[in-house]
Amino acid sequence: MNTHLHITAWALAFILFIIVVILNKQGKAKGAKIVQMILRLDYLLILYSGGALLAKYFGGSPMMGEAIFKGLAGIWAIFAMEMISLKTGREEPTKSWWIQLVIAVLLTMVLGFGRLPGGLLP
Ligand code: HEM
Repeated sequence: MNTHLHITAWALAFILFIIVVILNKQGKAKGAKIVQMILRLDYLLILYSGGALLAKYFGGSPMMGEAIFKGLAGIWAIFAMEMISLKTGREEPTKSWWIQLVIAVLLTMVLGFGRLPGGLLP
């Protein structure tokens, strides 16, 4: 249940994030702001569902450290998306944040899908 909420939430975040960037590049600041507000609400959903998944690792799981690291990488990815959204709005350079976003998302994917056992199986 939480896994599906988590995946839905971050998949939606990627879509909303791309829309914000495109609207900002087109100079449509007002539209970008509205989508950015929805994106921020969706961040909360990611944090909530991720936090619930993470809670299962506390209490003696040998993979607790990796799960915590996965959560930190996820927060890093959210932070990078937020910074890029803000900076494209202000027409400031975003290259270093794009690099960080790619690294953070790769880490979350490798740890989330590849390493941690939760997965889509019930
Ligand atoms: C944009 C941000 C994020 C992305 C792209 C992301 C991606 C993923 C992916 C791909 C999985 C694997 C799903 C599966 O097992 O089927 C996952 C699971 C998980 N995520 Fe995230 N996540 C993000 C944010 C977060 C945050 C902020 C936290 C913690 C507060 C978090 C904690 C977890 C935990 C604990 C799991 C469970 C791993 C398992 O048991 O297999 N994630 N996430």
